[in-house]
Amino acid sequence: MQDAIFSPSLEHFRPNLRRVRVGVLASGDGSNFEALYRAVEAGVLNAEIAVLVCNAPGAGVVGRARRLGVAAVEIDHRGFDRREDFDAEVAEALRRADAEWVAMAGWMRVSSSPLLEAFAGKLLNIHPSLLPSFRGAHAVRRGLEAGVRVAGCTVHQVVEELDAGPIVAQAALGVLEGESLESLKRRIQALEHVLYPRALARAISDGDG
Ligand code: GRF
Repeated sequence: MQDAIFSPSLEHFRPNLRRVRVGVLASGDGSNFEALYRAVEAGVLNAEIAVLVCNAPGAGVVGRARRLGVAAVEIDHRGFDRREDFDAEVAEALRRADAEWVAMAGWMRVSSSPLLEAFAGKLLNIHPSLLPSFRGAHAVRRGLEAGVRVAGCTVHQVVEELDAGPIVAQAALGVLEGESLESLKRRIQALEHVLYPRALARAISDGDG
């Protein structure tokens, strides 16, 4: 990616040594899900995408998973009264697929203890801002409205507080003069596709000691 800056920890990047099973949680179009899948094919991430769990039936990511031959499980969060019950079901689907690590990729749910405890330290998320700035929804729009001149994305561990877990890696780019929201979103997303697999591989290597 032209003119982007990546976390120095990714400069001497090497794929993780041990092949791990990764579960992906996604709610939307799934471009990050596909980027993770392609990174496995390309040898950037030494993993098997064990399962996709989606909370929004009919979301684009489910079609992508089917096309790529990845098992897809749809669990509609609207069928649960309590967040904890939904998360217990999600954790169970991940366990059934023998997922060791979990990557949230556009997962539009706030996580609770059944999921956080089942995958403590092995649960990552990607967020389209340079955290801790602009946590939560509409991060790119809020950044643009605030007049930031540098934007980017962050891969972080997931904790109970939204977008507040320890940062694993970041990538930054300069905002263009008069740049539209659509353009900035597109460029940040392209950066996410490069950052996420590498940050995940790095976290897995670090986690394996
Ligand atoms: C990404 O930009 C991610 O940062 C945000 O949601 C978007 C998901 O896009 N949380 P996609 O579904 O991976 O295409």
